[in-house]
Amino acid sequence: MTQFKPIDSIPSTPGKFKSEKSLPYIHRIRIHSSLPKLTLWSFLFLALIFVFFLLLSPPSPPPPPSIASRRSLRSTPWGGPAWERRVRSSARVRSKTALSVLVTGAAGFVGTHVATALKRRGDGVLGIDNFNDYYDVALKNSRKALLDRAGVLVVDGDINDADLLRKLFDVVAFTHVMHLAAQAGVRYAMENPNSYVHSNIAGFVNLLEVCKSANPQPSIVWASSSSVYGLNSKVPFSEKDRTDHPASLYAATKKADEAIAHVYNHIYGLSITGLRFFTVYGPWGRPDMAYFFFTRDILKRRVITVFEGPNHGTVARDFTYIDDIVKGCLAALDTAKKSTGSGGKKRGAAQLRVFNLGNTTPVPVSKLLSILEKLLKVKAKKRVLPLPRNGDVQFTHANISLAYKELGYKPTTNLETGLKKFVKWYLSYYDHKKPSSW
Ligand SMILES: NC(=O)c1ccc[n+]([C@@H]2O[C@H](COP(=O)([O-])OP(=O)(O)OC[C@H]3O[C@@H](n4cnc5c(N)ncnc54)[C@H](O)[C@@H]3O)[C@@H](O)[C@H]2O)c1
Repeated sequence: MTQFKPIDSIPSTPGKFKSEKSLPYIHRIRIHSSLPKLTLWSFLFLALIFVFFLLLSPPSPPPPPSIASRRSLRSTPWGGPAWERRVRSSARVRSKTALSVLVTGAAGFVGTHVATALKRRGDGVLGIDNFNDYYDVALKNSRKALLDRAGVLVVDGDINDADLLRKLFDVVAFTHVMHLAAQAGVRYAMENPNSYVHSNIAGFVNLLEVCKSANPQPSIVWASSSSVYGLNSKVPFSEKDRTDHPASLYAATKKADEAIAHVYNHIYGLSITGLRFFTVYGPWGRPDMAYFFFTRDILKRRVITVFEGPNHGTVARDFTYIDDIVKGCLAALDTAKKSTGSGGKKRGAAQLRVFNLGNTTPVPVSKLLSILEKLLKVKAKKRVLPLPRNGDVQFTHANISLAYKELGYKPTTNLETGLKKFVKWYLSYYDHKKPSSW
């Protein structure tokens, strides 16, 4: 192995080697007084040839796609003993029975709440998030600061970075993965379809690849979506219903993920639980969701667009408060059985589940607006338009009897109560009286 010299054995100035006293042959060199000139001209000639070839040579080709995409993963430098200590400390459990959980998308809305709740009850938690700018990065950084204070480290990295994920599994033997990292939002898929493929398909497969090879294999709980029910008209939506007619690319990637989860369960014995969330809302929420930007726009006296279905039909959502979703996530982690494989090989049948996590009470969007008007004490300026065909469906409504039976899931927060908590947080976070640029 190459031995590096300690820094102080290298002279700081090359001139130290030029002591004439130590070089007796120097006088002989001086006899040939034309030699320095000759050296100078040869040097200039060589330099000219070098510049000539440099100008003639074609520009270097772009890096191959794999390298290019690795660079786009945009993670901050990781590794080293200090970094590993921080990772270990964040993931350290407070009791023998506690879980050690890798939370992906930890700086996201649901991720922040789930990571905090796990940490609070004594589980070891490590977060990972790529802090992409799909919405206000400052909000993600504020959530990260919140997690810091709770003792949860969020590694800035992409779930497509296999080296980073493998390193995390080398440092910590995670018992569970709570996978929440995804490109969310149905409308944005028409603007940036590749971001959905990158995070929801490629990222998910990359994560499962690393999980399947980890020893021990973790149990995985991950966020699917109510959007997989697509154009279903039978209500309430049950896990037994068809999910093969999605209305958006987002929904199609979540549906694909459910099929991918089946494959990794079947071939490698990974224990996997998918949770179909129904319109989650609450403090620290997502600025791209209606309850959030309605609040902003009402306060800014902007006109709000409210959509209606065909024949003035109601658009309604089964709004589910974040605390109820967190309880569902924790129950799914707690009831997840162990994966059965090891070293990438299946050793027996493993658990595969999917649950609806909703509120079972769809509320018309017009009602959402009137609750917000009351809480903000401002009348909204609105215009009503037909629901465009950009991925949104007319209504969602969850049947949660399976989650109730298997997870003990029982939502307890109605929309009025939940929005009151959201508005309180919103006003304190943005302090709307101060001018803001967003
Ligand atoms: N909030 C809802 O109403 C809702 C409804 C159904 C499903 N879901 C699903 O729940 C999960 C959490 O949603 P959310 O509302 O918290 O969204 P969010 O956008 O707030 O959180 C997702 C986080 O993942 C991160 N991320 C995205 N791609 C990544 C990548 N390639 N590598 C690392 N990090 C990445 C983002 O930076 C973000 O912080 C998502 O999977 C979402 O699809 C949410």
